[in-house]
Amino acid sequence: MESSDLLKIIQGIPKAELHMHIEGSLEPDLMFEIANRNNIALAYDSIESLKNAYKFNNLQEFLDIYYTGAQVLIYERDFYDLTWTYLCKVYSQNVVHVELFFDPQTHTDRGVEFDVVINGIYKALVKAKKELNISFQLIMSYLRHLSEEEAFKTLESSLPYKQWIDGVGLDSSEKGNPPSKFVNVFKESASHGYKLVAHAGEEGPADYIWEALDLLNVVRIDHGNRCLDDEALVQRIIDNNIPLTLCPLSNVELKVIQRMEDHPVAKMLQKGILATIHSDDPAYFGGYMNENYYETAKALNLNKEQLMQLAVNAFEASWLSREAKEKHILEVKNYFDTLNL
Ligand code: HPA
Ligand code: ZN
Repeated sequence: MESSDLLKIIQGIPKAELHMHIEGSLEPDLMFEIANRNNIALAYDSIESLKNAYKFNNLQEFLDIYYTGAQVLIYERDFYDLTWTYLCKVYSQNVVHVELFFDPQTHTDRGVEFDVVINGIYKALVKAKKELNISFQLIMSYLRHLSEEEAFKTLESSLPYKQWIDGVGLDSSEKGNPPSKFVNVFKESASHGYKLVAHAGEEGPADYIWEALDLLNVVRIDHGNRCLDDEALVQRIIDNNIPLTLCPLSNVELKVIQRMEDHPVAKMLQKGILATIHSDDPAYFGGYMNENYYETAKALNLNKEQLMQLAVNAFEASWLSREAKEKHILEVKNYFDTLNL
């Protein structure tokens, strides 16, 4: 297939984003704009020199830059602009549903109140629902390099807003911070009605995926690449229809895989795993949903059926109502039916 045809096909697919950290959508131009108006000095003198720093050998090297970038976000308006800019961008890519992560501790640890963060993000999401018809869910992530006690404090701060928050997740430095460290706070989070997900098996071993499933009781695994090291785990994931929210460009940029051609998504689909494709931190990893679909499809030579399966899987794996899932899945299928491939 010609590249331009592939791009056009991908553009037209109705898409759901289920694995995206809103702080990871802070593009350099907006970072500079917000830094200027907040009188914050960045360590880089131009957008170009900042972008040159976006070369990572592993997750931690990325996280160090990502947390530094997030320091420009101080006021409600900053979180609102960040989220609104992201939503307008993905609207242009035919993303119709988003389930966004936000990292409250990245901000509360710097003295920015929880209320400021969530108000800015939520107001932009509500506007996008009304004006762009993008439905949404919001997922509060605990930073796993911090203690469980800190996560409990974050949970406490979230409770006045629990009608706005659909689930909790677990992100940041994976190695050495297993899901088992957060058993109690996940249990307590569930008791407040939050759905549960966790990053596992990105850099950490398959054992961390077992822990996320068996000890935390998560309903989805973010990344989960390393499940392929363990046949019994793959079977468990298939038997329980556990979605894996994969992020191909992120995997290449963080050297989870060496080349896009090595990405396991096609193998996972073939095994019957409910695998989906997302963008993780689009401002840092070179692309949003379309670019992730495109680079993966090109490198793995994905066919029309595989592309359709990925799009269907994302709605299936979402937290939309059954009725809304069926509606979007039908739209995806109708779209592929109209393509003469
Ligand atoms: N992995 C873990 N934590 C993160 C990531 C990621 O890719 N992005 C933002 N927080
Ligand atoms: Zn992630």
